[in-house]
Amino acid sequence: MDDVYRHDREKEKARRMFDSSEARKAFENVLNHDTLMSLLKLEERGTLERIQGVLESGKESVVFLVEKPDGEKALAKIYMNQAGGFRDMEEYLRGDKRFRDFKSDRRSVMKEWCRKEFSNLRKASKVLRCPEAIAFQENVLVMEMIGRDGKPFPKLKEVVPENPEEALDTVLQQMKELLQEEQLVHGDLSEYNVLVNEEGEMIWIDFSQGVHKTHPEASRLLERDVENITGFFGKHGSDTSTEEALEKVIPGTETSEPPYNL
Ligand SMILES: Nc1ncnc2c1ncn2[C@@H]1O[C@H](COP(=O)(O)OP(=O)(O)O)[C@@H](O)[C@H]1O
Ligand SMILES: [Mg+2]
Repeated sequence: MDDVYRHDREKEKARRMFDSSEARKAFENVLNHDTLMSLLKLEERGTLERIQGVLESGKESVVFLVEKPDGEKALAKIYMNQAGGFRDMEEYLRGDKRFRDFKSDRRSVMKEWCRKEFSNLRKASKVLRCPEAIAFQENVLVMEMIGRDGKPFPKLKEVVPENPEEALDTVLQQMKELLQEEQLVHGDLSEYNVLVNEEGEMIWIDFSQGVHKTHPEASRLLERDVENITGFFGKHGSDTSTEEALEKVIPGTETSEPPYNL
Protein backbone atom coordinates (compact mmCIF):
# COMPACT_ATOMS: atom_id res chain seq x y z
CA MET A 1 0.00 0.00 0.00
CA ASP A 2 1.35 3.42 -0.88
CA ASP A 3 1.58 6.38 1.45
CA VAL A 4 -1.83 7.78 2.23
CA TYR A 5 -0.40 11.30 2.42
CA ARG A 6 2.06 12.70 -0.09
CA HIS A 7 2.06 16.30 1.12
CA ASP A 8 1.65 18.04 4.45
CA ARG A 9 -1.31 19.97 3.10
CA GLU A 10 -3.15 16.73 2.35
CA LYS A 11 -2.53 15.57 5.88
CA GLU A 12 -3.80 18.90 7.15
CA LYS A 13 -6.98 18.70 5.07
CA ALA A 14 -7.59 15.13 6.14
CA ARG A 15 -7.21 16.13 9.75
CA ARG A 16 -10.01 18.63 9.29
CA MET A 17 -12.19 16.29 7.31
CA PHE A 18 -12.12 13.41 9.77
CA ASP A 19 -14.25 13.83 12.82
CA SER A 20 -12.05 11.89 15.16
CA SER A 21 -8.62 10.37 15.17
CA GLU A 22 -10.34 6.95 15.27
CA ALA A 23 -12.10 7.66 11.99
CA ARG A 24 -8.85 8.90 10.48
CA LYS A 25 -6.89 5.88 11.69
CA ALA A 26 -9.54 3.49 10.35
CA PHE A 27 -9.21 5.26 7.05
CA GLU A 28 -5.40 5.19 7.06
CA ASN A 29 -5.44 1.47 7.78
CA VAL A 30 -7.54 0.44 4.83
CA LEU A 31 -7.23 3.10 2.19
CA ASN A 32 -4.69 4.75 -0.03
CA HIS A 33 -3.67 8.10 -1.48
CA ASP A 34 -6.01 7.90 -4.50
CA THR A 35 -8.98 7.33 -2.24
CA LEU A 36 -8.01 10.29 -0.10
CA MET A 37 -7.95 12.40 -3.27
CA SER A 38 -11.45 11.18 -4.15
CA LEU A 39 -12.74 12.15 -0.72
CA LEU A 40 -11.12 15.58 -0.91
CA LYS A 41 -12.68 16.03 -4.33
CA LEU A 42 -16.10 15.14 -2.96
CA GLU A 43 -15.54 17.69 -0.25
CA GLU A 44 -14.63 20.32 -2.86
CA ARG A 45 -17.75 19.43 -4.83
CA GLY A 46 -19.80 20.16 -1.71
CA THR A 47 -21.02 16.57 -1.43
CA LEU A 48 -19.59 15.74 1.98
CA GLU A 49 -18.04 17.74 4.74
CA ARG A 50 -17.02 15.45 7.57
CA ILE A 51 -16.17 11.78 7.88
CA GLN A 52 -17.43 10.35 11.10
CA GLY A 53 -16.36 6.75 11.32
CA VAL A 54 -16.69 3.27 9.95
CA LEU A 55 -20.18 1.82 9.86
CA GLU A 56 -19.25 -1.52 8.44
CA SER A 57 -16.33 -3.01 6.64
CA GLY A 58 -16.67 -5.91 4.24
CA LYS A 59 -14.35 -7.69 1.88
CA GLU A 60 -14.91 -5.40 -1.08
CA SER A 61 -15.86 -2.15 0.55
CA VAL A 62 -15.81 -0.04 3.67
CA VAL A 63 -18.86 2.02 4.54
CA PHE A 64 -18.23 5.32 6.34
CA LEU A 65 -20.79 7.51 8.01
CA VAL A 66 -20.37 11.07 6.71
CA GLU A 67 -21.97 14.45 7.20
CA LYS A 68 -23.05 16.63 4.29
CA PRO A 69 -22.59 20.43 4.32
CA ASP A 70 -26.30 20.76 5.22
CA GLY A 71 -25.68 18.73 8.38
CA GLU A 72 -27.55 15.66 7.10
CA LYS A 73 -25.94 12.26 7.49
CA ALA A 74 -25.02 10.18 4.49
CA LEU A 75 -22.84 7.19 3.70
CA ALA A 76 -19.69 6.87 1.67
CA LYS A 77 -19.19 3.34 0.35
CA ILE A 78 -15.56 3.01 -0.61
CA TYR A 79 -14.58 0.17 -2.89
CA MET A 80 -11.17 -1.08 -1.97
CA ASN A 81 -8.59 -1.53 -4.64
CA GLN A 82 -7.87 -5.05 -3.53
CA ALA A 83 -5.40 -7.07 -5.55
CA GLY A 84 -7.10 -10.01 -7.26
CA GLY A 85 -10.81 -9.23 -7.17
CA PHE A 86 -10.99 -6.57 -9.81
CA ARG A 87 -10.51 -9.00 -12.71
CA ASP A 88 -13.74 -10.77 -11.74
CA MET A 89 -15.38 -7.38 -11.44
CA GLU A 90 -14.21 -6.50 -14.92
CA GLU A 91 -15.67 -9.65 -16.43
CA TYR A 92 -18.94 -9.15 -14.60
CA LEU A 93 -19.13 -5.57 -15.84
CA ARG A 94 -18.41 -6.48 -19.45
CA GLY A 95 -21.38 -8.86 -19.42
CA ASP A 96 -23.64 -5.86 -18.90
CA LYS A 97 -24.32 -3.95 -22.08
CA ARG A 98 -24.63 -0.70 -20.14
CA PHE A 99 -21.03 -0.88 -18.90
CA ARG A 100 -18.65 -2.00 -21.58
CA ASP A 101 -16.85 1.16 -22.48
CA PHE A 102 -13.99 1.33 -19.99
CA LYS A 103 -10.30 0.46 -19.79
CA SER A 104 -8.96 -2.68 -18.14
CA ASP A 105 -6.70 -1.14 -15.53
CA ARG A 106 -7.68 -1.48 -11.91
CA ARG A 107 -8.61 2.15 -11.40
CA SER A 108 -10.96 2.22 -14.40
CA VAL A 109 -12.61 -1.02 -13.32
CA MET A 110 -13.23 0.25 -9.79
CA LYS A 111 -14.63 3.49 -11.09
CA GLU A 112 -16.98 1.68 -13.45
CA TRP A 113 -18.07 -0.61 -10.63
CA CYS A 114 -18.97 2.44 -8.59
CA ARG A 115 -20.77 4.05 -11.52
CA LYS A 116 -22.75 0.85 -11.89
CA GLU A 117 -24.01 0.83 -8.30
CA PHE A 118 -24.84 4.53 -8.64
CA SER A 119 -26.81 3.93 -11.81
CA ASN A 120 -28.56 0.83 -10.40
CA LEU A 121 -29.68 2.81 -7.35
CA ARG A 122 -31.05 5.59 -9.55
CA LYS A 123 -33.04 3.09 -11.61
CA ALA A 124 -34.26 1.04 -8.67
CA SER A 125 -35.46 4.12 -6.81
CA LYS A 126 -38.10 4.58 -9.50
CA VAL A 127 -39.86 1.37 -8.50
CA LEU A 128 -38.93 0.62 -4.89
CA ARG A 129 -37.47 2.12 -1.69
CA CYS A 130 -33.66 2.18 -1.72
CA PRO A 131 -30.96 4.73 -0.76
CA GLU A 132 -30.86 7.85 -2.88
CA ALA A 133 -27.62 7.88 -4.89
CA ILE A 134 -26.01 11.27 -4.22
CA ALA A 135 -22.66 11.24 -6.06
CA PHE A 136 -19.66 9.15 -6.96
CA GLN A 137 -16.00 9.93 -7.44
CA GLU A 138 -13.67 7.19 -8.66
CA ASN A 139 -14.14 4.36 -6.13
CA VAL A 140 -16.28 6.29 -3.65
CA LEU A 141 -20.09 6.25 -3.75
CA VAL A 142 -22.08 8.66 -1.59
CA MET A 143 -25.65 7.73 -0.80
CA GLU A 144 -28.50 8.40 1.54
CA MET A 145 -28.14 6.70 4.90
CA ILE A 146 -31.15 4.54 5.65
CA GLY A 147 -31.64 4.92 9.37
CA ARG A 148 -32.15 7.40 12.13
CA ASP A 149 -29.74 9.46 14.29
CA GLY A 150 -26.67 8.12 12.56
CA LYS A 151 -27.73 4.50 13.08
CA PRO A 152 -28.86 2.26 10.21
CA PHE A 153 -32.19 0.49 10.44
CA PRO A 154 -31.94 -3.23 11.20
CA LYS A 155 -31.44 -5.77 8.47
CA LEU A 156 -34.38 -8.00 7.53
CA LYS A 157 -32.31 -10.84 9.02
CA GLU A 158 -32.65 -9.24 12.46
CA VAL A 159 -36.39 -8.69 12.49
CA VAL A 160 -39.23 -11.15 12.86
CA PRO A 161 -41.68 -10.46 10.04
CA GLU A 162 -45.23 -9.99 11.31
CA ASN A 163 -46.85 -11.32 8.19
CA PRO A 164 -44.27 -13.36 6.24
CA GLU A 165 -46.57 -14.31 3.39
CA GLU A 166 -47.54 -10.72 2.71
CA ALA A 167 -43.96 -9.45 3.07
CA LEU A 168 -42.70 -12.12 0.66
CA ASP A 169 -45.35 -11.12 -1.84
CA THR A 170 -44.26 -7.49 -1.57
CA VAL A 171 -40.63 -8.35 -2.29
CA LEU A 172 -41.56 -10.60 -5.22
CA GLN A 173 -43.74 -7.87 -6.67
CA GLN A 174 -40.84 -5.41 -6.33
CA MET A 175 -38.49 -7.83 -8.08
CA LYS A 176 -40.99 -8.16 -10.91
CA GLU A 177 -41.36 -4.41 -11.28
CA LEU A 178 -37.63 -3.85 -11.18
CA LEU A 179 -37.25 -6.37 -13.97
CA GLN A 180 -40.16 -5.17 -16.09
CA GLU A 181 -39.85 -1.42 -15.63
CA GLU A 182 -36.07 -1.03 -15.30
CA GLN A 183 -34.75 -4.29 -16.85
CA LEU A 184 -32.73 -4.81 -13.68
CA VAL A 185 -31.91 -7.81 -11.46
CA HIS A 186 -30.56 -7.01 -7.97
CA GLY A 187 -28.26 -10.03 -8.01
CA ASP A 188 -27.39 -10.14 -4.30
CA LEU A 189 -30.80 -9.94 -2.68
CA SER A 190 -31.18 -11.60 0.69
CA GLU A 191 -32.16 -10.81 4.30
CA TYR A 192 -28.69 -9.20 4.63
CA ASN A 193 -29.29 -6.58 1.94
CA VAL A 194 -32.76 -5.42 2.94
CA LEU A 195 -33.25 -2.98 5.82
CA VAL A 196 -36.55 -2.53 7.65
CA ASN A 197 -37.71 0.87 8.90
CA GLU A 198 -39.89 1.69 11.89
CA GLU A 199 -43.07 1.28 9.84
CA GLY A 200 -41.98 -2.18 8.71
CA GLU A 201 -41.25 -0.95 5.19
CA MET A 202 -38.47 -2.87 3.40
CA ILE A 203 -35.62 -0.90 1.86
CA TRP A 204 -33.25 -2.63 -0.52
CA ILE A 205 -29.52 -1.82 -0.35
CA ASP A 206 -26.26 -3.02 -1.93
CA PHE A 207 -26.89 -2.78 -5.66
CA SER A 208 -23.30 -3.34 -6.77
CA GLN A 209 -24.09 -6.77 -8.22
CA GLY A 210 -27.16 -5.54 -10.06
CA VAL A 211 -27.23 -6.42 -13.78
CA HIS A 212 -29.23 -5.62 -16.87
CA LYS A 213 -31.61 -8.44 -17.79
CA THR A 214 -29.55 -9.28 -20.89
CA HIS A 215 -26.45 -10.09 -18.80
CA PRO A 216 -25.47 -13.77 -19.28
CA GLU A 217 -25.81 -14.34 -15.52
CA ALA A 218 -29.10 -12.46 -15.08
CA SER A 219 -31.41 -15.49 -15.01
CA ARG A 220 -29.22 -17.41 -12.57
CA LEU A 221 -28.87 -14.38 -10.29
CA LEU A 222 -32.60 -13.72 -10.31
CA GLU A 223 -33.30 -17.34 -9.43
CA ARG A 224 -30.86 -17.13 -6.54
CA ASP A 225 -32.44 -13.88 -5.31
CA VAL A 226 -35.86 -15.55 -5.35
CA GLU A 227 -34.50 -18.60 -3.51
CA ASN A 228 -32.82 -16.49 -0.82
CA ILE A 229 -35.86 -14.38 -0.13
CA THR A 230 -38.34 -17.26 -0.29
CA GLY A 231 -36.08 -19.29 2.02
CA PHE A 232 -35.92 -16.47 4.56
CA PHE A 233 -39.68 -15.95 4.74
CA GLY A 234 -40.15 -19.74 4.68
CA LYS A 235 -38.19 -19.96 7.94
CA HIS A 236 -40.66 -17.48 9.39
CA GLY A 237 -43.74 -19.40 8.37
CA SER A 238 -44.51 -18.58 4.74
CA ASP A 239 -45.36 -21.70 2.75
CA THR A 240 -44.81 -20.35 -0.73
CA SER A 241 -42.43 -22.64 -2.65
CA THR A 242 -39.50 -21.33 -4.66
CA GLU A 243 -41.27 -22.44 -7.86
CA GLU A 244 -44.42 -20.50 -6.97
CA ALA A 245 -42.33 -17.49 -6.03
CA LEU A 246 -40.36 -17.60 -9.27
CA GLU A 247 -43.59 -17.82 -11.24
CA LYS A 248 -44.72 -14.58 -9.59
CA VAL A 249 -41.57 -12.77 -10.69
CA ILE A 250 -41.25 -14.28 -14.17
CA PRO A 251 -44.60 -15.67 -15.36
CA GLY A 252 -44.14 -18.84 -17.41
CA THR A 253 -41.24 -20.43 -15.49
CA GLU A 254 -43.35 -23.40 -14.34
CA THR A 255 -43.39 -24.74 -17.85
CA SER A 256 -39.85 -23.84 -18.92
CA GLU A 257 -36.25 -24.53 -17.98
CA PRO A 258 -33.50 -22.14 -16.87
CA PRO A 259 -31.89 -19.95 -18.06
CA TYR A 260 -35.22 -18.11 -18.24
CA ASN A 261 -35.95 -15.57 -20.89
CA LEU A 262 -36.24 -12.36 -18.91
N1 LIG B 1 -27.66 3.25 2.52
C1 LIG B 1 -27.41 2.59 3.65
N2 LIG B 1 -28.02 2.93 4.80
C2 LIG B 1 -27.75 2.29 5.96
N3 LIG B 1 -26.85 1.30 6.07
C3 LIG B 1 -26.20 0.91 4.97
C4 LIG B 1 -26.44 1.53 3.70
N4 LIG B 1 -25.63 0.96 2.79
C5 LIG B 1 -24.91 0.03 3.46
N5 LIG B 1 -25.24 -0.02 4.77
C6 LIG B 1 -24.66 -0.87 5.82
O1 LIG B 1 -23.37 -1.25 5.43
C7 LIG B 1 -23.32 -2.66 5.19
C8 LIG B 1 -22.44 -2.96 3.97
O2 LIG B 1 -22.96 -2.31 2.82
P1 LIG B 1 -23.34 -3.11 1.51
O3 LIG B 1 -23.77 -2.10 0.50
O4 LIG B 1 -24.30 -4.19 1.83
O5 LIG B 1 -21.93 -3.68 1.04
P2 LIG B 1 -21.29 -5.13 1.05
O6 LIG B 1 -22.30 -6.12 1.60
O7 LIG B 1 -20.97 -5.40 -0.37
O8 LIG B 1 -20.09 -5.01 1.92
C9 LIG B 1 -24.76 -3.09 5.03
O9 LIG B 1 -24.96 -4.42 5.38
C10 LIG B 1 -25.48 -2.14 5.97
O10 LIG B 1 -25.36 -2.58 7.30
MG1 LIG C 1 -24.33 -6.22 1.64
